[in-house]
Amino acid sequence: MNAGILGVGHYAPEKVLTNQDLEKMVDTSDEWIRTRTGIEERRIASDDMDTSDMAYEAAKNALEDADMQAEDLDMILVATVTPDTPFPSVATMLQHRLGANKVAAMDVSAACAGFMYGVITAQQFISNNAYKNILVVGVEKLSKITNWKDRNTCVLFGDGAGAAVIGPVSEDKGILSSELGSDGSGGEYLYQDDTLFMNGREVFKFAVRQMPESSVNVVKKIGLSEQDVDYLVPHQANIRIMEAARQRLGISEDKMSTQIKRYGNTSSASIPIALSEDVKAGKIKDNDLVVLVGFGGGLTWGAVALRWGK
Ligand code: UT7
Repeated sequence: MNAGILGVGHYAPEKVLTNQDLEKMVDTSDEWIRTRTGIEERRIASDDMDTSDMAYEAAKNALEDADMQAEDLDMILVATVTPDTPFPSVATMLQHRLGANKVAAMDVSAACAGFMYGVITAQQFISNNAYKNILVVGVEKLSKITNWKDRNTCVLFGDGAGAAVIGPVSEDKGILSSELGSDGSGGEYLYQDDTLFMNGREVFKFAVRQMPESSVNVVKKIGLSEQDVDYLVPHQANIRIMEAARQRLGISEDKMSTQIKRYGNTSSASIPIALSEDVKAGKIKDNDLVVLVGFGGGLTWGAVALRWGK
């Protein structure tokens, strides 16, 4: 059974933090942030909105888009590094709040590649006929682990949630190939101690190599060429890293999602937010060959090539 995306949704907190706002908080400039990262603004969740609250909003939105009820779900996976609490998981909170049946629910921890880990895990359960419909959410409240005095990191991140319902689709549609990987030797480049720490240069070097490579790998695995890609949704961490992937595929600018401008880096949430925004804006059409690709702390990475539609 092929697994594909039956519905997508997202939630963005109301509060917008602009580059100009950050100029008043740390020694930075709108010009530096825009040219080095492509970010113009990001969303910040209010104190009374935790990770599970954002996950819930995005999940409802995705279920509606899939024309499904919570009772139709057979499993819930939540990718996050900023859960409300270490346990219980955000996934179980979501099971309860959505009113889903007593289905399997767990959080997935793979930092910014978490959504890709979730999607590919869901695909396995569907393709072996164990489960039918699986909700995969990518959600972060990074503002609660951001060091707001560190200009190296605080200008980059934002809060939000994205979700997808994964389920069976016809033979020529859905996920056609995938790739997951990790390299723990780079763990020291991006981690949370109390707040978030990042060696930007090292992560950058890893990402400009890995994201283009994984994008090409998933396309090659299905015997197609780079230019056959109709739409690329890369992890929205830095426009320069995203550009490296786009240029390696040799596709035009309009074929890549660039939601980074409005959301910054939302870690696990970045790919599903971008996907949901772009699907709803009509940028992805039935039969398009879509590549989703992410990388993150761990270090971790993951990608899929999928044929859009049911
Ligand atoms: O989600 C996955 C994880 N994250 C990533 O993918 C991030 C990967 N890395 C990056 O995106 C980039 O490395 C950054 C955007 C973090 C930094 O860009 P860069 O072009 O690699 O800059 P840099 O680290 O080489 O720093 C250049 C200069 C430094 O000053 P000196 O040492 O040259 O005097 C920094 O101190 O820019 C300075 N700088 C800033 N200046 C103004 C660093 N942050 C800021 C800032 N505003 N916010």
